[in-house]
Amino acid sequence: MTDEHLLQWVEYGETVQAAWLSESRHPAPKTLCAVEHISADDALRLMRADTALVWRGDYHQAKQLLSAIKKRVRAKAKQPDDFHRHRLQQAQQSRLFQMLLLVVSPGFQLNNARAPDVQAALTDVYGAGHRLPFLLPLHLLLGFIGAHEWHKTGVSVQALGGAKIHVPYGVFSPVRGEYVDLVAQAELPKGCHTAWDIGTGSGVLAAVLAKRGVAQIIGTDTNPRAILCAEDNMRHLDCAPQVRIVATDLFPSGYADLIVCNPPWLPAKPTADIETALYDPQHAMLKAFLADAAEHLNAGGQVWLIMSDLAEHLGLRAPDDLRKWINAAGLRVLTKIETLPQHPKAQQRHDPLHHARSREVTSLWQLVPA
Ligand SMILES: C[S@@+](CC[C@H](N)C(=O)[O-])C[C@H]1O[C@@H](n2cnc3c(N)ncnc32)[C@H](O)[C@@H]1O
Repeated sequence: MTDEHLLQWVEYGETVQAAWLSESRHPAPKTLCAVEHISADDALRLMRADTALVWRGDYHQAKQLLSAIKKRVRAKAKQPDDFHRHRLQQAQQSRLFQMLLLVVSPGFQLNNARAPDVQAALTDVYGAGHRLPFLLPLHLLLGFIGAHEWHKTGVSVQALGGAKIHVPYGVFSPVRGEYVDLVAQAELPKGCHTAWDIGTGSGVLAAVLAKRGVAQIIGTDTNPRAILCAEDNMRHLDCAPQVRIVATDLFPSGYADLIVCNPPWLPAKPTADIETALYDPQHAMLKAFLADAAEHLNAGGQVWLIMSDLAEHLGLRAPDDLRKWINAAGLRVLTKIETLPQHPKAQQRHDPLHHARSREVTSLWQLVPA
């Protein structure tokens, strides 16, 4: 934690300071002002002028204030007519929602009246306690608390016979199980002994391959939270003897009979670290994966690429781009199996991306060297 992350404000004539640790890539607010009571309209006026509020009052009143702010902002927002405007609107709204701050004292304590115990939820996100007080947007804290509950509860995965995958904040969750089913159904290459799961996230695909009998699997990821999460999941699913989790960019060294990858599906810039599993600027990871995958295959091996065509329905990728990139990488399509989304967002008509989501198809491309 460096000095440039310390923010200051004045309370009862004294200068107070705390660290700024936001998970988002938004810049820190210019000015801070301590408040105990304020109307939603006054709060919004300050926030729009880049003044964040350090909330010193009752915790539940802060939650009510945040809901009132969200309601006002969303009621005024125009329905965006394309994906980029939708993303811009989301980023602007999220910056505003993150201007209501709580001070978290060392040991992850909140000093606000009626504040809940957030120690377990924050330890889940940040690891061992911080020694300095820090500022945390209430909007994020509520996300952390929800994620912590999900982490404890786990997501039941049909392809693992209903066994649970536990996913903390900041790691891609297999709540949309249909792409996992594709990996459970696709025909394995003959004599498949070794497999890699590139961008393993929670490790769910590595676990499915282990349950299908692949003897040696390596899951890789660049997100440190994913590495810890996948290792935990392999242990509790009894897959640890078969699966090794490695922190590396794309491929480990060596060769495999099967290389699986479920990359981020949309070519866009992430606005927070947690979005790096969803958005891949200009499909850079996808292209880098395709470009080198064939070089790592054993004879008779296959590459499995899991992709949805949502980017095509949103006008972010031309319909034949993916096939062109596959061919340019010296690969050819052996077969392609498809599934339709069952997640609730596909049915939500008020979702600004409903038109694209309702037509989305998720595919597992089985690729072999050309
Ligand atoms: C869409 S998620 C898929 C996670 C998991 N395989 C699944 O199917 O649920 C994409 C994953 O790729 C990881 N990732 C992104 N770029 C990567 C890279 N260059 N090398 C390794 N992993 C990467 C992300 O951290 C994220 O965990």
